[in-house]
Amino acid sequence: MMAFAPAMALNASPARPRPRGDAPELPGGADAARGHALFAADCAGCHGPAGAGDGPSADALQPRPANLTEHTYSRARVVDALWNGTAGTSMPGWRDVPPSDLAALADTVRTLDSSASDTPVAPDQILMGARAYAANCVQCHGSGGDGRGTAASELRVAPTDFRAQRPSLSIAVRALTLGVEGTQMAPWTDRLSDAEILAVAYYVRSLFQSDGGVGTVQ
Ligand code: HEC
Ligand code: HEC
Repeated sequence: MMAFAPAMALNASPARPRPRGDAPELPGGADAARGHALFAADCAGCHGPAGAGDGPSADALQPRPANLTEHTYSRARVVDALWNGTAGTSMPGWRDVPPSDLAALADTVRTLDSSASDTPVAPDQILMGARAYAANCVQCHGSGGDGRGTAASELRVAPTDFRAQRPSLSIAVRALTLGVEGTQMAPWTDRLSDAEILAVAYYVRSLFQSDGGVGTVQ
C-alpha cells in the first residue's frame, strides 16, 4: 500500500513552480563551513564560486543570476528567495533542503556581499533623486521602494523591493544606464540626465531597511 505524504510534502523537483509560501522559522547558529560547501554544490553553477553572478550557466540565463557580491539583502529577503525561488527567473526554490542547511545558505549569501556603504550624499542630490523616482519609478518599484507599484503585478519578473535589497552604486547605475536584460527594467539614458541617474541610484540605495522589507512581492 502506498503511503501518502502530507500536503506540505517535500518536492523532489525544486524548480517546479508551486504556490508562494512563508518560509519556516530557521534555526540560528548555522554552520559556516557547511553553508559554503552547499553554496559551492548548489549555487555556484549559476552564481559563480564567489557569488559574482558569473557561474558557467550564467551567460545562458535571462535575467542573469544575481551578483551576490554587489547586493546587500535583508535576511528575510534571502530566506524568501530560497524558499520560493524568484518568479520569472531560473532561480529555483529550495524547500527540499533541511532548515539547518537553508539557514547556513542564507548566512553564506550575506557574507558574500562586498558592496560599500555610501559616503554622505548632499541633501539636494537626494531630493533630485526622490523627484526622479516619484516621476518615473513608483509605478513599478512602489512608493517607498517596496516593489509594489500599480504596474508590478503585470510584470513577469517583479520589480526590485529596495527596502529588502540594496544594489551597489555601480550595479544601480548600470541597471539605469543599460536596463536589466530579461526584465522590463529599461535604460533611462534618454529620459534622465547623468546627474539624475546618479541621484536616483543614491536615492534607491537610501531606501534599504536592514530587516524591514520581506520581499513578499510576486
Ligand atoms: C539555475 C540557476 C540558479 C541557481 C542554481 C541558483 N540561482 Fe539564485 N538566482 C538565479 C537567478 C536567475 C536570480 C534572479 C536574478 C534577478 O532577479 O534578476 C537569482 C537570484 C538569487 C538571489 C537574489 C534574490 C532575488 O530574488 O533576486 C539570491 C539571494 C540567490 N539567488 C541565492 C541563491 C542560492 C543561495 C542558491 C543555491 C542554493 C541559488 N541562488 C541557486 C539563478 C540561480
Ligand atoms: C516597468 C517597470 C519598471 C520601471 C518603470 C522601473 N523599473 Fe527598475 N526594475 C524593474 C524590474 C522588473 C527590475 C528587475 C528586477 C530583477 O532583476 O529581479 C528592475 C531593476 C532595477 C534596478 C536593479 C536592482 C538590483 O538590485 O540589481 C534598479 C537600480 C532599478 N530598477 C531602478 C529603477 C529606477 C531608479 C527607476 C526609475 C527611474 C526604475 N527602476 C523604473 C522594473 C521597473
